[in-house]
Amino acid sequence: MSSIILIGFMGAGKSTIGRQLARRLSKELIDLDAQIVEAIHMPIADYFDQFGEAAFREQETAILAELATKDGILATGGGIVLRPENRTLLKQQPAVIYLTADTQVLIERIQQDTENIRPLAENKQPAEIAAILDQRIAFYEESAGHILDTTNKTPEEIVSEIIERLGDL
Ligand code: S3P
Repeated sequence: MSSIILIGFMGAGKSTIGRQLARRLSKELIDLDAQIVEAIHMPIADYFDQFGEAAFREQETAILAELATKDGILATGGGIVLRPENRTLLKQQPAVIYLTADTQVLIERIQQDTENIRPLAENKQPAEIAAILDQRIAFYEESAGHILDTTNKTPEEIVSEIIERLGDL
């Protein structure tokens, strides 16, 4: 099996589900945001402040290209689908899962998560966050082979569903 790649909006549970999926399948979890932080030697929010979003997307694109085919579970950042070359690459991978949830649920999760500073969601009204999601939904859908709604499901249920869906991969 090559990599299983989790995509979806902020708050979709990519890192949480990725961690549990990796444990269940005895695979390595590769967290793209964590890899970027290692490469840029600073928190993502600081990098956005100092160098801007476009520079961050450059880093993200380079690291995705390096890691997309590595054996393991790859949890991506919510903006990974913004660059067309990333969507092209994702479409070529056999196991890309788009984790979705009701917009309200995503916004609540983002706002309740005090550990992650997300520059694009910081100090934003719910309607502004929802507007960012709206701009991306079609990109997530075209990039993924599987769409999985996580609303009202436990991480264990979601992980089992992913394993079932991927079957013999
Ligand atoms: C971003 C999502 C973040 C992180 C960065 C940008 C986005 O990752 O990559 O703050 O544009 O949606 P999470 O989806 O893990 O929060």
